[in-house]
Amino acid sequence: KGGVKMLNQTIESLQLPRLLEFEDGSQVTSPEDWQKRREEILDLLCEEEYGLRPPAPLSISAMTNKLDENAYAGKVLEQHMMLSAEIEGGIFSFPLKVFVPKFIENPMVIVYIAFREDVPDRYLPIEEITDEGFAVATFCYNHVAVDGEDNYVGGLAGLLKKEGERAGNDTGKIMMWAWAASRVVDYLETRDDIDHKNIAVMGHSRLGKTALVAAAYDERFTFSFPNNSGCSGDAITRGKEGERIEQITNRFPFWFCPNYKNYAGREADMPFDQHFLVAAIAPRFVCAGTAVEDIWADPNSQYLSYVAADEVYKFLGKDGFIHPNRLPEVGDTFHEGTLGFHMRSGRHFHSRYDWLKFMEFMKKHRIN
Ligand code: GCU
Repeated sequence: KGGVKMLNQTIESLQLPRLLEFEDGSQVTSPEDWQKRREEILDLLCEEEYGLRPPAPLSISAMTNKLDENAYAGKVLEQHMMLSAEIEGGIFSFPLKVFVPKFIENPMVIVYIAFREDVPDRYLPIEEITDEGFAVATFCYNHVAVDGEDNYVGGLAGLLKKEGERAGNDTGKIMMWAWAASRVVDYLETRDDIDHKNIAVMGHSRLGKTALVAAAYDERFTFSFPNNSGCSGDAITRGKEGERIEQITNRFPFWFCPNYKNYAGREADMPFDQHFLVAAIAPRFVCAGTAVEDIWADPNSQYLSYVAADEVYKFLGKDGFIHPNRLPEVGDTFHEGTLGFHMRSGRHFHSRYDWLKFMEFMKKHRIN
């Protein structure tokens, strides 16, 4: 009983901005209201944190440059291609690799936003994933927009760049990487050998933040799997330990729109917090991976986002976050609800354990 009080009190003491209340103070009272409230939330997160979302492309096309129908001992179809999206400023192309297990029909698919271009990679054990019956579509984030202060010259950043200094709600790179994940879905929808109803987006750390943004802005993702996403991902900013807005916007200003740094040291003034990002994915699935030693990300604050976003899921008639009335402990897995969570031992990493948990969650909640 003490625990019940503790968790409620922790949430109350944070004084989080309300999810089920419009900006003008009126209440959200119906699912239709929620659709409008969701639009407000998405606009707010563009304006204050991630920057404007680039428009959907006019067209997309894919050009295959390698096809191996018998990869991984003959179990997998492996296809490499250039994916091109036609947008206002020109054509933007990036490499995409697709792996489809041959031994099952209609496999669920994971769009993996990768740090490195080599596949497989220590974060992306292809054979173990396809052996579980999942297809994988993966691209390297640096091919979309370089993860560094490059003055937005190359890639998608170059095409979107406006005259002069970056300012206000100009698109940050997390939003660009997330936008690219949606172009992968545009492409996947043209294939008939994968399950269109069960497409997930997944990434680790800065790319876990990206996996949340991708699913928030694109309802074609049925699942989002943010691994160790932390600050400006799934961790509640108010009261957060480890990394805070000041540190993240000093080191990585280009991940966000310039407006975001205005909240450094002024977290209590933010008209949002990261539970807004999770709730914007409702009623779809989110399942997070955290690590007990990842104190820079802060697993307790990560957990609190799901605790706080739960009310929207409940409001929409979903199970939401089914969890005990206490903070998480190492070894915990909460997979019963629409929101899932695990906390493993060890440090910041995308481990085999995280993969197994995510795949387990997706199998459990597969949509027919
Ligand atoms: C840095 C950054 C984190 C980020 C991490 C990563 O540590 O401060 O916000 O999640 O890099 O992407 O590995």
